[in-house]
Amino acid sequence: MAVVKTRCVILISGRGSNLSAILKATQSPDYPAVIAGVVANRAEAAGLQLARDAGIPVSVVPNGDYADRPSYDLALQTAVDAYAPNLVVLAGFMRILTPAFVAHYAGRMMNIHPSLLPAFTGLRTHERALDAGVRLHGCTVHFVTAELDHGPIIAQAAVSVHDGDDVASLAARVLKVEHQLYPMAVRWFAEGRLHIDGARVRVDGITHDTLPLISPVLESFL
Ligand code: GAR
Repeated sequence: MAVVKTRCVILISGRGSNLSAILKATQSPDYPAVIAGVVANRAEAAGLQLARDAGIPVSVVPNGDYADRPSYDLALQTAVDAYAPNLVVLAGFMRILTPAFVAHYAGRMMNIHPSLLPAFTGLRTHERALDAGVRLHGCTVHFVTAELDHGPIIAQAAVSVHDGDDVASLAARVLKVEHQLYPMAVRWFAEGRLHIDGARVRVDGITHDTLPLISPVLESFL
């Protein structure tokens, strides 16, 4: 019997490296999701070519063409829904979304953000993490709610901040774990293992070990 896979629509604004990581995961026969379409708000988004090269249908809904946010989001919703998604995946989609758009995809839209939320919502997260002197930084995958960079957290990945780091080196270290975390979170959704319980998300079958994450690493833990 053919297995029905979860249909994802991925929204991008630029480079598309997270799109690429998810695309790679979907090429494995046992991955439970497929990319039904990619939608961008900018025709120049480099990620569009990655999708085209993989034979994935793409749509561009340029935000400059619309008078206001509600009319833009309505056009965006029409483009997204044309692919009949089970899950909408924001992968570097740099737009603030209207509450109506968010409500339409409640419980079936996720985002990746380059910080350990709730720290450093918004832009320039790596620069702000360096300025704040944090020892652990990272990324978060969360369900999208009307409040920007909030919503129930599905998974986080932490990396150490090194003494010699600049924005570029820290961003590269975080991006590497983004590419591991996002395909994993999409897989969990597709497997029906995510349950939203207020502000928290329970993941079926995940047991947490007790090893602490400490940076700088203490030798006694090695
Ligand atoms: C990623 O680092 C992602 O976490 C971030 O944009 C980048 C997109 O890169 N998203 C946000 O800042 C959303 N608030 P990509 O196009 O190569 O995936």
